[in-house]
Amino acid sequence: MTTALIKNLSRHVDEEVTVQGWLYNLRSSGKIMFLIVRDGSGLMQGVLVKKEVGEELFETAGKLTQESSLKLTGLVRQEPRSVGGFEMTVTGLEIVGIAEEYPITHKEHGVEFLAERRHLWIRTPKQTAILRIRSEIEQAFRDFFYERDFVLADAPVITPAACEGTTNLFELDYHGEKAFLSQSGQLYNEATAMALGRIYCFGPTFRAEKSKTRRHLMEFWMIEAEMAYFDVDDNMRLQEDMVHYVIQRVLTRCAQDLKTLERDVDRLQRISLPFPRISYTEAVEILKKAGEEFVWGDDFGAPHETIISSQFDAPVFVHRYPTEIKAFYMKPDPNDPKVVLGADLLAPEGYGEIIGGGQRIDDLKLLEQRIAEHNLPQEAFEWYLDLRRYGTVPHSGFGLGIERTVAWLCGLEHIRETIPFPRMLHKMYP
Ligand code: 4AD
Ligand code: MG
Repeated sequence: MTTALIKNLSRHVDEEVTVQGWLYNLRSSGKIMFLIVRDGSGLMQGVLVKKEVGEELFETAGKLTQESSLKLTGLVRQEPRSVGGFEMTVTGLEIVGIAEEYPITHKEHGVEFLAERRHLWIRTPKQTAILRIRSEIEQAFRDFFYERDFVLADAPVITPAACEGTTNLFELDYHGEKAFLSQSGQLYNEATAMALGRIYCFGPTFRAEKSKTRRHLMEFWMIEAEMAYFDVDDNMRLQEDMVHYVIQRVLTRCAQDLKTLERDVDRLQRISLPFPRISYTEAVEILKKAGEEFVWGDDFGAPHETIISSQFDAPVFVHRYPTEIKAFYMKPDPNDPKVVLGADLLAPEGYGEIIGGGQRIDDLKLLEQRIAEHNLPQEAFEWYLDLRRYGTVPHSGFGLGIERTVAWLCGLEHIRETIPFPRMLHKMYP
């Protein structure tokens, strides 16, 4: 017997197949029984007619509880009115495991309750839709870079020094030496870019931020790219192509899951290239016009980002931030050194910053000076300074937060649902 995934049932119409999964719901009229089954790829309705399957099988099926594991065998039919568009006329049923009384019922549950049971919550249709879209997004990023001859160069997770400031590091003991969990693979990316030209890394990133917002996790995944001989404009062009590519992939390959999430896909379809670009100074003007008391030189908070991005249908680049508020490695604009050649990408619909990036300092003396100004230990950065000593070139890169991107493309209120097991402030169970 062929086993089939529910998502592929369209290839098996009028064939007999076996579906392996779990019981999502059961309704019975006494003569006919409807089993909604899930297998991780979708939902399918199985129909059991007592007259046809016999008394015994019908009674066995009646004992199934929610989330019992089972195998259903039967004939696949097209049925537009049924969940997923296909239905199975069941002729065989194998019970693999009867589930105990399941804590997550089809009623509404509070988020606290669900978060405590995240290991089970991820089985529900909305959560599986999100996780499948996340998987598609990650694959799309990989394909984008692969098609453009980037080399995947993984950065270390255990690091001896800070990349994005010293205030939010998770510290650990490395056989008696102090070490930190990575805040960003960027510094290593700069080294691999000097070796390989164009590279990216994709890995977990850690920030011990005392933030309890709907956009912050303690552990998140970042796609980071670094390109030799790219300036700030080349960098933005690559990023917009990448984000646009990923949107198209999700729209074409995840239509069913977007529907489950009731995502307003028009908002995504409308996004076209190129994305708008404004300077930090222009962004400040937008805030002032909106009645905000904002001082040039301050960093944007989430409400500011929402006001700025609400002016545009597409994601918007904000470039040339004040040097003061940005990281030590950002290259000052030669035309106005008060600002740097960095650019963040703000997502529409209030999703905020999804990319941080920019052109890096390529001058040895200036970089040494910046490291000192930021009170960073120069010894720890000697290898990084070597990149300027031996064959320095203009180069740029960026980092995109996967979870914020998933939240935006799925239209979710909170980032906690975008990753199987979120790590949040004071919360890491399960
Ligand atoms: O802007 P950030 O801090 O940039 C960097 O780390 C650079 N070194 C990247 C680079 O140029 N290679 O972080 C990049 C992105 C943010 O725009 C955001 O999407 C995400 O990482 N991010 C977070 N996502 C979830 N929770 C957090 N606490 C995050 N902090 C940053
Ligand atoms: Mg940032």
